[in-house]
Amino acid sequence: MDGRTLAEFSNATVDRIDLEWLARRVGTPCHVYSASAIRQRIHELQRALGGLDAQICFAVKANPLRAVLRLMADAGIGADIVSAGELQRALDAGIDPQRIVFSGVGKSIDEMRMALEAGIARFNVESRDELDSLQLVAAELDQIANVAVRINPDVDAQTHAKISTGKAANKFGVSADEARQWFADRPRLRNLRINGLHVHIGSQILGLDPFRDALDRVATLRRELEAAGHVIHSIDVGGGLGVRYREADDAAPTAAEYVGAIRHALHDYRGRIVLEPGRWLVAEAGFLLTRVLRSKQGDSRRFLILDAAMNDLARPSLYDAWHEIVAVSPQPRAEVTYDIVGPVCESADTFARDRTLPECRAGELMMIRTTGAYAASMASTYNSRPLAAEVLLDRGRWAIARRRQSHAEMCLGEATTLDWQAQ
Ligand code: LLP
Repeated sequence: MDGRTLAEFSNATVDRIDLEWLARRVGTPCHVYSASAIRQRIHELQRALGGLDAQICFAVKANPLRAVLRLMADAGIGADIVSAGELQRALDAGIDPQRIVFSGVGKSIDEMRMALEAGIARFNVESRDELDSLQLVAAELDQIANVAVRINPDVDAQTHAKISTGKAANKFGVSADEARQWFADRPRLRNLRINGLHVHIGSQILGLDPFRDALDRVATLRRELEAAGHVIHSIDVGGGLGVRYREADDAAPTAAEYVGAIRHALHDYRGRIVLEPGRWLVAEAGFLLTRVLRSKQGDSRRFLILDAAMNDLARPSLYDAWHEIVAVSPQPRAEVTYDIVGPVCESADTFARDRTLPECRAGELMMIRTTGAYAASMASTYNSRPLAAEVLLDRGRWAIARRRQSHAEMCLGEATTLDWQAQ
């Protein structure tokens, strides 16, 4: 017990691990995920999908840590990838290539080649140019690529503008008209099997109506294409299901409600349904441990300065996202209203404004909640701050899934003295 008495341990435990103890062992800032909470989410969604021919493909961008992807692989979950890097991570973690789908508007020729060679299940294709390029690459490799057409249903997901993807003005997907044309062109695209539809309208969606609208449009197009003699082997309903960042405000649909909407919209569809949840599976299972560096009384505001910063968690600065921030062992002190900030040298490095908390002092351990998705995955080394450690907890056990980056690792590949060469 590293020399301390029981009384010196704080009460704050997650997955039966004492957080104060963990923070001393691993240092802060540090991303922590509960493996058992992730498994619980997986099972909840799998239960809701009971009886359907459905495949969950975890959106790797939400949390690409290979130990997290391994949890997915162990539960039979596949991957929704958007780059060669994500493909490699999914394969490293043991995800079956036949359960991998490839989304994104900017797949490069090399990425298409790698994915075809790995034998992934399907490409979600977003433009005519991409379709023609994929045909060329598949022909060159003498392979057949399965293609789902990503439909842009022109639906407002009613979420933050920066994470909305389903309006006609967004760069994603193609119109139903264009999709019809692609199906009509099938005989000329000999190395493609265009037999799927895909839709993804945005992220952190808290109502079911946008999903219903988008799925209804896809279902109508599917009926029409089938009536014209085309086979629609799969419908990929994307991701986007929101989570509860604020106890009081965010009322997210349950897995059962969400799947109920899918069942309803696709009730007469007999093919495979693919889901690409990211955030919903992991966000609430994670938190960011950080210590108070100091507090500062400005002219008009009081600042609480943490050792985590916008490079560790960019969501508040990018999307004005709200994350709950609490002391791990709150002290019975008078309440203070803080702007909670990090050490990075710009005012965007603000996690929260006007948060009222019992006074916090230097050295105290804090937790920023609901950071299992899009936190570590969007981290950078801005201000030359090394990437934070990532830790998994599992029912009384803990493990470092990624150690804190050292200065040398942060500078890897970078030259101090340049080796100039003539062209
Ligand atoms: N499928 C596709 C094609 C996507 O583009 C995305 C997310 C997902 C699935 C997974 O969506 P989810 O279930 O996680 O909502 N960085 C932002 C979120 C960006 C989402 C990008 N695409 C944030 O921190 O809120």
